[in-house]
Amino acid sequence: MLRTHTCGELRLEDAGKEITLTGWIQRSRDLGGMTFVDLRDRYGITQLVFDMDRDKALCEQARKLGREFVVQVKGTVAERSNKNKNIPTGEIEILISELKVLNKSKVPPFTIEDDTDGGEELRMKYRYLDLRRAVNRNGLILRHQMAIETRKYLNDLQFIEVETPYLIKSTPEGARDFVVPSRMSSGTFYALPQSPQTFKQLLMVSGYDRYFQLVKCFRDEDFRADRQPEFTQIDCEMSFVEQDDILETFEGLTKHLFKVVKGIEIEPFKRMPYEEAMKKYGSDKPDLRFGMEFVELNDVAQNQGFKVFDDAELVVGINAEGCADYSRKQLDALTSFVKKPQIGAKGLVYVKINEDGSFKSSVDKFFDADALKQWADKFGAKPGDLLLVLAGEAAKTRKALNELRLEMGSRLGLRDPNKFAGLWVVDFPLLEWDEESERYHAMHHPFTSPKAEDAHLLETAPEKARANAYDMVINGVEIGGGSIRIFDEELQSKMFTALGFTKEEAQKQFGFLLDAFQYGAPPHGGIAFGFDRWAALFAGRDSIRDVIAFPKNNAGRDVMIDSPSTISEAQLNELHLQVKKKD
Ligand code: AMO
Repeated sequence: MLRTHTCGELRLEDAGKEITLTGWIQRSRDLGGMTFVDLRDRYGITQLVFDMDRDKALCEQARKLGREFVVQVKGTVAERSNKNKNIPTGEIEILISELKVLNKSKVPPFTIEDDTDGGEELRMKYRYLDLRRAVNRNGLILRHQMAIETRKYLNDLQFIEVETPYLIKSTPEGARDFVVPSRMSSGTFYALPQSPQTFKQLLMVSGYDRYFQLVKCFRDEDFRADRQPEFTQIDCEMSFVEQDDILETFEGLTKHLFKVVKGIEIEPFKRMPYEEAMKKYGSDKPDLRFGMEFVELNDVAQNQGFKVFDDAELVVGINAEGCADYSRKQLDALTSFVKKPQIGAKGLVYVKINEDGSFKSSVDKFFDADALKQWADKFGAKPGDLLLVLAGEAAKTRKALNELRLEMGSRLGLRDPNKFAGLWVVDFPLLEWDEESERYHAMHHPFTSPKAEDAHLLETAPEKARANAYDMVINGVEIGGGSIRIFDEELQSKMFTALGFTKEEAQKQFGFLLDAFQYGAPPHGGIAFGFDRWAALFAGRDSIRDVIAFPKNNAGRDVMIDSPSTISEAQLNELHLQVKKKD
């Protein structure tokens, strides 16, 4: 090695040692007689001292070092007079006797500091420099620890990691496929997997019993902070299990990761049926770090002459405790918030419960104190509280109130990133109606089994059937989801019929799986975690991009390598492709 130690490991007890370090120049301060340099590597930062009195030539050499130069230094560890309590090496410094520049660096386009001056686009273009920043490095190290601990935990439970192919055909997760043209077979395409779903089920047919894989998945869908076109799943499947077995096994994995990676013992996860989640929080991924449950007011707020409420399918609100002192301006801001097109409410009704127990509301014209008292009682509200109420079509209104609840949670500091509230949302509907294609879609995927007691509904009232499907939600983030699968051929064909597939279509798309199921498929089920989302949650970052080494930007581009990009005419010909010219 070109070094004896790293920049993160020397301590006071090493004082007097002759050592060699390598690293990058983080910053240097020239104080005339002395030059102080911060040397950085993956492990930390160590202060180097060049002393004019001891070696003038060396000191002058040090003054010429630019930011991000790569150097090797030899010197003696010494106690620092001016100690820095903020870094682990802050009690020592190195009195340098030799300096060798291993490589120069151009001036980086932004500062390599946590609080950098570089904008997002610039940092993406120079991602290899961005990754030198401690905040990104820590995210990737944390991700690595999570991956290692996941493998250890599942290995101990007899899971085996099996790699499944990337060049496959369409998988049933419901997003658009990324496709790869075949050179060998003109006009045909591979699809990249949206998940290894069908393969992991085939592995169960093969008798592997407990499978997992840290695996790349590809989905051509719109971008959001929690979505990337390629992302990683911790994908798992088990045989001879029921839903509870899956929930317990993977709550176990979750607890383990919290404990060993975050040092936190988390509370057992709540379990909540989908319907309850939608009714109480207007979301299938409620953030349970705080309460603020929905309260429905139809029976006390309708038929009192207020048309907006009278015409509404649902009148529903939340109690923002202690917010009765909100000013006009603050209430206007909340009204503008719910009226934003992406939230879509028509307006916001508020009721302040003043400290003296009197009411002040935006609907005083229609509701007197007695009427408002009935509302307040429904909320269990007390003086000082603020009720925020929306009305309209039920599903839309719940969705909008969910956004308002989250906004109020944030404003009131109830969404502490260091607090974790885990939840299993269970009993999802099996199917959802798609207005555009005028047919049912599988809410999870077509291999998800209906609850035994609902199976008969497939033929009579499919929309009412509930599924053996579950999501793991932490702090309002859908970390993972899965289901118990159909392994019975007859039930599977009923499912395909409900989804509007003809026998031929089902056979064409999933024939290999249906065939396999005729050779002794065991009862099985599984789950997949969004590894990037989980890592972002652990790292306390808002975007999954922050825990992906080389992510795509909002437009799905890698601006560093400039991809996607055009290919040569020769390559196009070889792939039997023609690119349509834009008019
Ligand atoms: P699902 O489609 O719910 O299930 O995906 C599982 C988890 O993967 C994460 N995820 C994503 N993360 C980042 N970017 C994306 N574009 C993205 N899409 C999904 C989410 C999600 O909960 N085969 C089934 C699992 C199963 O049934 O076993 C599946 O893929 O955290």
